[in-house]
Amino acid sequence: MVQSFSHLFSERARGMRASEIRELLKLTQRPEIISFAGGLPNPEAFPIKDIKNITDDLLTKRGPQVLQYGTTEGVTELREALAARLKRDKGIDGDLKNILITSGSQQGLDLFSKVFIDPHDIIIVSAPTYLGGTNAFASYQAQMESVPLDEQGMIPDLLEERLWKLHRHGKNSKMIYIIPTFQNPAGVTISESRRKKILDVVANLDMLVVEDDPYSELRFDGDDVRSMKALDKEDRVIYLGTFSKILAPGFRCAWLVASEEICQKLTVAKQSTDLCTNTFGQYVAYEYIARKMVDRHILLIRKMYKRKRDIMLKAFARYFPKGVTWTKPEGGMFAWVTTPPAVDTKVMFDQAIANNVAYVVGTAFYPMASGGRNSMRLNFTHPTDEKIEEGVKRLGSVIEAEIGATSGKRRGIQRQRNGIISGV
Ligand SMILES: Cc1ncc(COP(=O)(O)O)c(C=O)c1O
Repeated sequence: MVQSFSHLFSERARGMRASEIRELLKLTQRPEIISFAGGLPNPEAFPIKDIKNITDDLLTKRGPQVLQYGTTEGVTELREALAARLKRDKGIDGDLKNILITSGSQQGLDLFSKVFIDPHDIIIVSAPTYLGGTNAFASYQAQMESVPLDEQGMIPDLLEERLWKLHRHGKNSKMIYIIPTFQNPAGVTISESRRKKILDVVANLDMLVVEDDPYSELRFDGDDVRSMKALDKEDRVIYLGTFSKILAPGFRCAWLVASEEICQKLTVAKQSTDLCTNTFGQYVAYEYIARKMVDRHILLIRKMYKRKRDIMLKAFARYFPKGVTWTKPEGGMFAWVTTPPAVDTKVMFDQAIANNVAYVVGTAFYPMASGGRNSMRLNFTHPTDEKIEEGVKRLGSVIEAEIGATSGKRRGIQRQRNGIISGV
């Protein structure tokens, strides 16, 4: 007999739930399905030859060192190289005492939660937002409050309104979690003026900002926008960057930049989590920067992803029925599609699977599924060019049929307000 020990789970673990989205995503693995659901980089964008050369050299010349445990803070050469790169490309100041290497940015989110979140603390997130972020916060029993975004990202006035409303009810939030550039899932970027406004708002309430930035290097058009960390004069911003999208996610190698005090605390928290990040991966990442392969390779990735983004946006215009709208990301990996209000993308999901195409339902990106019912996230980086076109064509027919099936029934249930993405 299989015995259950769930009664021994901690209170915290009892609150952890496998998301129903994981069940939906399992269906998308079937080979006949064109999946826009995953959040994966394209494997053709992995610099396998460069990694092979670096690996051979490292094992030949520095084998004992690169296979050994490392310090919790991370390999010094890598942190120095990152500090120089962050200064050069992003205007972010930071030296060794401010940089911690983590096992993916996801670990950065977890460590940050471990250090800052007490049960019932309030974290401000955008709506929609990255599921991995809200899952990390929820696993430390945080309460999430969300602020809507539009084509320019989080709306500062609504943020301010929400924070003061909470304040009047005796509730204060310690921090805001934000993905300012090519946001996952919506693909939108916060303008510099909004970034400044958001920083002013949080400074007035003595809050921290977690700036999660896995995508800003993947810009295809438009001008760079300064990172919130570069605009931050008070060390309120904890900045997360990762090699997952510019080298390969399999190395689980990322970094965070924070004040010395916060960095030290996060380092102590990391010690009990994994002692150190994969040393070998860190040396590969270091060589990838030191040999100047990274910048050359990012250009290749940008070119490939831009082509795929263009194919997808063109296909939307060609195959999506009237009433469907979408974001036009200038970079990153995702577009966000909004259908007419009567369509429920979760209800429609079965039809999409029956037609061999898949997406992630919008509600997955809203804490407690509080919105996004008529929206979906589509990834454009992973499928082949041909599959993007064909998949959007299939999805267009599925949406059209769903609009036909629902027309008149639920009209007006969910109106969009002032361009707010996938209203609530
Ligand atoms: C916004 C965001 N943050 C963090 C991560 C996790 O990145 P990593 O592979 O560095 O853990 C992802 C991955 O897709 C992401 O989209």
